[in-house]
Amino acid sequence: MTDRAAGLRIVVGVGGGIAAYKACGLIRHFTEAGHQVRVIPTESALEFVGKATFEALSGNRVDTGVFADVPSVAHVALGQEADLVVVAPATADLMARAAAGRADDLLTGTLLMARCPVLLAPAMHTEMWEHPATVANAATLRSRGVTVMEPAHGRLTGTDTGAGRLPEPDQIGALADLLLARADAVPRDMTGLRVLISAGGTREPLDPVRFLGNRSSGKQGYALAALAAQRGAEVTVIAGDGVHLPTPAAVHVQTIGTARELQTAVDAAAPEADVVIMAAAVADFRPADYAGAKIKKGAGEPDTVPLSRNPDILAGLVEQRAQGRLPVDQLIVGFAAETGDDEGDELHHGRAKLRRKGCDLLVLNAVGDGRAFEVDDNAGWLLGADGSETTMEFGSKALMASRILDAVTALRRRADGPD
Ligand code: C5P
Repeated sequence: MTDRAAGLRIVVGVGGGIAAYKACGLIRHFTEAGHQVRVIPTESALEFVGKATFEALSGNRVDTGVFADVPSVAHVALGQEADLVVVAPATADLMARAAAGRADDLLTGTLLMARCPVLLAPAMHTEMWEHPATVANAATLRSRGVTVMEPAHGRLTGTDTGAGRLPEPDQIGALADLLLARADAVPRDMTGLRVLISAGGTREPLDPVRFLGNRSSGKQGYALAALAAQRGAEVTVIAGDGVHLPTPAAVHVQTIGTARELQTAVDAAAPEADVVIMAAAVADFRPADYAGAKIKKGAGEPDTVPLSRNPDILAGLVEQRAQGRLPVDQLIVGFAAETGDDEGDELHHGRAKLRRKGCDLLVLNAVGDGRAFEVDDNAGWLLGADGSETTMEFGSKALMASRILDAVTALRRRADGPD
């Protein structure tokens, strides 16, 4: 990750839940990036994962209580010196103790001392997560600038499923990296917004085994979805079936294959959306004819593959909105991947595309030479229909997502404001 300094001091707190084992992956995430990690489990976390595991993974001593290492005044020093504190899993009890400002063990003492960004990744049974006490504790912690993650939905301890599952270590790590890059809490400024995001590439079948596809990995669309959900939005992703990424916490994912399937899915979901972000790489063309049986070599093999034009879904949305078939205040964001040529540079082509598509915001990426597609970092510009142009410096796709959502929320605020 290029937007993250190496060698920072990270405290990984571990609460006493069955998901404590996932903290091991998170510790690795930080040590592999060159950070110094101090693990502070609660006493009950050690019922699930042994101290030796945390010491071996972090390369540092591990204590749970304030009296274990009195000469170093650890309960003061660790929080004071930390660049980031991440607690995963944060149990209902730990959240309650943190919200109450208690300091009855090393972890809560460290949380009270910390002035750096703090990220809590809750994990508990759905009933506990939805209990008014936990809801109030999460709200209290958020009001104090703590980033409390939305948990994932899925298998819990035993046979139960529901909201309350700990997000995967990479997802917690990505949000932690974003906190470090922004040096600020993740705002809850998308609460109540319904956001529809398309991601990945479409696949246009030629016969039962072959298709016309593209190199989109879906990473940028998923990064947007993950962050919009953490900013409080209700998020649906419509993803190409070639996307192989874990479902972001608290995001609903629907899978499609072709551009026309994407159009059907987008058209069905768009009337309910406040924001539509078309991050998908939609194939402009599809094979004109689908061969029901695999095309064989030899006699009868085609010399050429005739193509038909696919619908432009983004332009279609803008048109529907103009006709009053979509909410007038719906915000529509398009993406453009451009290269420069004899006619002009990427910006020249991006500006022309924004005018052509008629969307409110265009995310412009320069592509080619290994940029944008399949990689973890990106750079580009944000072009607004109001003529605004913002450069997005090179950074992780999570950081890009953060800048794009900042622009989206700023546009929404302007639309909602007095004038
Ligand atoms: O025209 P171009 O493919 O460069 O435009 C890119 C933008 O338009 C992206 O937001 C993409 O999701 C959207 N698009 C679309 N339908 C198409 C082609 C692109 O919605 N057929």
